[in-house]
Amino acid sequence: MKIARKKEWFDDDSFWREFYPIMFSEERFAAAVENVDKIIRLTKLKGKAVLDLCCGPGRYAVPFAKHKFAVTGVDKTKYLLDKAKAKARKAKVKIEWIQQDMRDFVRPDSFDLVLNLFTSFGYFDDKKQDMIVLQNILASLHRGGIFLIDTIGKERLAKIFQPATFNVLPDGTKLIECREVFDNWTRMRNEWILIRRGRAKSYRFHHTIFSGQELRDRLEQVGFVGVKLYGNLSGDDYGPEAQRLIAVARKP
Ligand SMILES: C[S@@+](CC[C@H](N)C(=O)[O-])C[C@H]1O[C@@H](n2cnc3c(N)ncnc32)[C@H](O)[C@@H]1O
Repeated sequence: MKIARKKEWFDDDSFWREFYPIMFSEERFAAAVENVDKIIRLTKLKGKAVLDLCCGPGRYAVPFAKHKFAVTGVDKTKYLLDKAKAKARKAKVKIEWIQQDMRDFVRPDSFDLVLNLFTSFGYFDDKKQDMIVLQNILASLHRGGIFLIDTIGKERLAKIFQPATFNVLPDGTKLIECREVFDNWTRMRNEWILIRRGRAKSYRFHHTIFSGQELRDRLEQVGFVGVKLYGNLSGDDYGPEAQRLIAVARKP
């Protein structure tokens, strides 16, 4: 049954299409290939069944499949899933692709590892819906299965926060990024303005930001155990200097 929901920023395919070259550059695809071994090491992964939740254009799903894992990629954006399918065809790997909202995907006791990478969590205005996602992930793991989430940490954000930045992209497009933290420093509102040939187009989006402890608390609240925090996929400590907030958690 399809659940009727109000339209939110992430439902707009044109947002993902417009920012595809910026978010998913060749360098970012190459970094993901390098990161697969790090993820396997950090999670001490044993089994073969991997769910990439919010897989986007398959940056991780495809290299995991090349490593002979049985990969399921779930994402709600058709434009990105089409990109992912093309990458998988080119790499000659088989992957199960599912177009579905992360709040709805659940497949009990099916995966050894669930991934949620590159700030793909905390998107919902109603914060209870983020918890539904975590419950679904927990349910979808085998006993002893591992969840790895990678997001931007609030400690780091507080340290480097800039209300606006300006960049010129390789094709000459100008990008202005405006940021505002709101709701008692729990959420970040962004406006990205692209200027091409003198014409400006603006996109707004917002998401929840988590400190290490806030993320750990949410994972434990739904029943994950053994939660460990890291500052990158190499397993360095988490803190205000860390590039990323990585949490690795286990289903009991
Ligand atoms: C920042 S991208 C990260 C993509 C991928 N994990 C990566 O590392 O390249 C966020 C992804 O979340 C997906 N997404 C956003 N809202 C979603 C939702 N409600 N359900 C499922 N996927 C969603 C988008 O389509 C996009 O692919």
